[in-house]
Amino acid sequence: MDYDTLIVEREGATALVTFNRPKALNALSMATMRDLDAAIDELAADPEVSAIVLTGAGERAFVAGADISEFNSLQSGQVAVDYALRGQAILNKIEQLPKPVIAAINGFALGGGCELAMACDIRLAADTARLGQPEINLGIIPGYGGTQRLARLVGRGMAKLLCLTGDPIGAAEALRIGLVDRVVPTAELLDEAKALAHKLAAKAPVARALIKQAINVGLEGSLSEGLGFEAAQFGLAFNTEDRREGVTAFLEKRQATWKGQ
Ligand code: COA
Repeated sequence: MDYDTLIVEREGATALVTFNRPKALNALSMATMRDLDAAIDELAADPEVSAIVLTGAGERAFVAGADISEFNSLQSGQVAVDYALRGQAILNKIEQLPKPVIAAINGFALGGGCELAMACDIRLAADTARLGQPEINLGIIPGYGGTQRLARLVGRGMAKLLCLTGDPIGAAEALRIGLVDRVVPTAELLDEAKALAHKLAAKAPVARALIKQAINVGLEGSLSEGLGFEAAQFGLAFNTEDRREGVTAFLEKRQATWKGQ
């Protein structure tokens, strides 16, 4: 499918989704969010796609936030609540997708851009990237999960420091506090992200999805609930043909061939 605000390209078992409004630093307009929702549905349903990379067009930004030029059209608190819930639902869909999603953060990831990156499974950042939650400087607060996912990723003190000051941080500091998982030279970012996506795409599909779900669900509750969930997922993995194939291939000293069942 073609989108006005996104470019979706397939490469083998992976897909690259590029936010394509570079003149607005790829800000998330309502149209972009609709396109993103549809693109995620499209890629979720595509059996040929096993891993996804998100990035931003141009050299300056991953995504510089929600589109501020649309904010004054949110005329009431209730309209704003609906706006936040719609965005949260789309980011939740990314987080819950049974395929890994990698954010390749090639510049500014501010506000909704940082929130979008945090809903991805893994964040690779260019060494020139800048991340933050500057909403307070507009007199508002993060609405696409920023206060919640940031605190879970970096802890409550650091989340409050970032959200209350609104100050962006560089890639090295983001790595230090756990907001991103790897920092690479800007020129190598996309190749690194694609190589990682290809690597993840080649793994056992059911186990890959079960691991993602176990980590996500486990972080929602207590350790003992998480361990119970992990044991159940372990059982599901053990019932797959891929488990028989993976173990047999190891014992026979050969590469496994996954069926995804
Ligand atoms: N929404 C809408 N437009 C945005 C935007 C956003 N979140 N972020 C940047 N843009 C637009 C600018 O309005 C500008 O458009 P123009 O050329 O038509 O004037 C263009 O992108 C380039 O941005 P500009 O501000 O000129 O670049 P800069 O290098 O001086 O500053 C930023 C870069 C990222 C620091 C600055 O654009 C910024 O602070 N953006 C808003 C970040 C934010 O608050 N995000 C959270 C929103 S809730």
